Amino acid sequence: MDGQRQVFLVTGTPGVGKTTVARGLAELLGGAYVGLSELALKEGFITGYDEVRNTSVANMDGLSQRVSQLIEDEVGTLVVDGHFSQDVVPSHSVSIAFVLRRAPWVLKEELEARGYSTDKVRENVESELVDVCLTETAEKLGADRLCEVDTTHRAPREVVELMLAVAQGREPCRYGHIDWLSREEARELLGESPDCTSS
Ligand SMILES: Nc1ncnc2c1ncn2[C@@H]1O[C@H](COP(=O)(O)OP(=O)(O)OP(=O)(O)O)[C@@H](O)[C@H]1O
Ligand SMILES: [Mg+2]
Repeated sequence: MDGQRQVFLVTGTPGVGKTTVARGLAELLGGAYVGLSELALKEGFITGYDEVRNTSVANMDGLSQRVSQLIEDEVGTLVVDGHFSQDVVPSHSVSIAFVLRRAPWVLKEELEARGYSTDKVRENVESELVDVCLTETAEKLGADRLCEVDTTHRAPREVVELMLAVAQGREPCRYGHIDWLSREEARELLGESPDCTSS
């Protein structure tokens, strides 16, 4: 990787605030913002449509090659936004992966307000509850560049400032401090979900 070029991933469950803060971070860093969903739609890296999840399916290999090319071509900092960015951006290019987190009971309200189906809300809320995105990102990149940031009850600007401080080495990159399952609200939330014996 070029010593001066930095690539920051912003990943996390849908609705945690990735696009909002990734744009803000790119602006403060004077870098370029790359939204993977936008890029996939704009440049045709779509292989189909998932009727169950109500979402487009991206051509991950094609997108990965395109992002590698962008990393080669861009001169400055890149901020890459996408819940699958850890699968698309080559691991060796990543400076820091920010995994945004949002309390599942707050995320649920966000996703319901978007008009998502009950199943889609539940799938995403449960993913957030059990750290799916964090685990996937750790598996892809290892733990040393992993930074979890809680967006719950914080203004976007505050989150962006914190990420900037981490990106510039003024704050440590931390992970493992967020544990939704230990919270009282999680028990209430799980009370609404089907138990593990139902199919
Ligand atoms: N601290 C925060 N950081 C980021 N967004 C926040 C924060 N607090 C509230 N929000 C709000 O949360 C909403 C969801 O944000 P956003 O669309 O950026 O999520 P996302 O993770 O990009 O979702 P998707 O994966 O569906 O693209 C926005 O309306 C945003 O203003
Ligand atoms: Mg987004």
